Amino acid sequence: MQLVTYSNIAKATFCFSLLLLVSACQKESVLPAQRDVVEGTFSQALYLPPVVQADDARLSIHAAAGSGTLGLNALSYQNAPIGPVIESRSGQSARITFANAGAVATNIHWHGLLVPADMDGHPDLAVAPGQTKEFTFTMNQRASTTWYHPHLHGSTGEQLTKGLAGMWIHRDDAEKGLNLPAGEHELPLIIQDKRIDSQGNIVYNPTPEEIATGYFGDKVTVNGIQAPFHKVKAGWYRLRIVNASTARIYNLSLNNGRPMFIIGNDGGLLSQVISQQEAILSPGERLDVLVDFSGMAPGKSVFLVSNPFRAGVQGNQFFKILRFEVSEGNAPSFSLPASMPLLDLENPAVVRVTRSFDIGISHDEEHGGGHTGHGGGTGTTSVGHTINGKLFDPVRIDETASAGDLEIWEFDNTLGDEAHPMHVHGARFQVLSREGGRAQVLPFERGWKDTVLCLPGEKVRVLVRFGAHTGKFVFHCHNVEHGDDGMMLNLQLQ
Ligand code: C2O
Ligand code: CU
Ligand code: CU
Repeated sequence: MQLVTYSNIAKATFCFSLLLLVSACQKESVLPAQRDVVEGTFSQALYLPPVVQADDARLSIHAAAGSGTLGLNALSYQNAPIGPVIESRSGQSARITFANAGAVATNIHWHGLLVPADMDGHPDLAVAPGQTKEFTFTMNQRASTTWYHPHLHGSTGEQLTKGLAGMWIHRDDAEKGLNLPAGEHELPLIIQDKRIDSQGNIVYNPTPEEIATGYFGDKVTVNGIQAPFHKVKAGWYRLRIVNASTARIYNLSLNNGRPMFIIGNDGGLLSQVISQQEAILSPGERLDVLVDFSGMAPGKSVFLVSNPFRAGVQGNQFFKILRFEVSEGNAPSFSLPASMPLLDLENPAVVRVTRSFDIGISHDEEHGGGHTGHGGGTGTTSVGHTINGKLFDPVRIDETASAGDLEIWEFDNTLGDEAHPMHVHGARFQVLSREGGRAQVLPFERGWKDTVLCLPGEKVRVLVRFGAHTGKFVFHCHNVEHGDDGMMLNLQLQ
């Protein structure tokens, strides 16, 4: 039943986008769920955020309305298109002053960092307008590409889409030993899709259907800039890529036929370099990629694109994301590492606790459609998006486990018809198996991760190692519309 509904919606969207192009009208409220990307011109320069050190006590991050160029209603850290890159080294302490200079409550979650529960951005921990919060914690984990964003229940999708996101690059000596492309040859790339009206305002108003599929923007931005270009030199570059879209999955590829050499994902370096023509990246996930522009003539363009793929209602479109323009000169010479640092992988045979989470029960199937949207409401029979049939309750403890323990968690989307990128706070995991659907663990999903995509029909098992910090953490679907709709539970580590 739903399939029929969605394909009709998709057709309607297509016609509607044409209509939009012709008439430039903006009746956002009547737009259906699925939205095609309308490519921009790739003529605006990519914005590269400043790099700040995590131990700099002076650092203040303001969450305030952005300037006109970001959208009159945009939110921003430091009044910039995307937040600063925060850089840290293993063993170092972070000290960050977060000032909410905006008009709405918000908070920050450090996605991928193992931090104390009261620093982790649990939805309980709101920072009111005018308030300041000091974040202090020590990073005891391997080098990885992490990121930060708001985590206020019911508002995360809106605040993230309106501009509150930034990258955190955590480094260590093992990684340094590889002499990977650095400085101007290491590019932070945060990808988001947005709806922007003709006045330049960011529009975020998902309908119930759009909460089910996810809210898709028709404009794809990198570091807050739609359809940007970046000048590169012939030679190697390191791309640190975050999918910070609320729902859109990308199948990343280069359009010149050259492979991407994937060296890392959410939790840091892989045990070997993986050469891929394309790689799926769902909301919350990261990839650390080496690309080679050697031998390309000045003036030539190469695009980072998303190729078509099959993932529920998503993936039926090819579109370009970012244009690299080769300019004069050469990047420093580099060759791929012959070997990668060893991975401290876990042994599933020693695990005594397995938990299973049903993420495939659709509220619509159970309750005949319609749900409450943000933050619940009265007068409806709907239960929203659930895990094991439960909606998020910030107070209720759903799972209790021991800090530092190793467990097997199973995300079961066998009966589901929506894609769910599942994310666990206060822990990291290895993907053990995927049954149904794609029926394999992809080579770039090996190693350590914190977010894993569970497509319709898939059951994904992960080996979770909880961090050392005790307290109340969450785990949830990183389709942010689903998360805001209640697809999140509390995990008490003790
Ligand atoms: Cu990036 Cu709990 O999220
Ligand atoms: Cu997180
Ligand atoms: Cu979901």
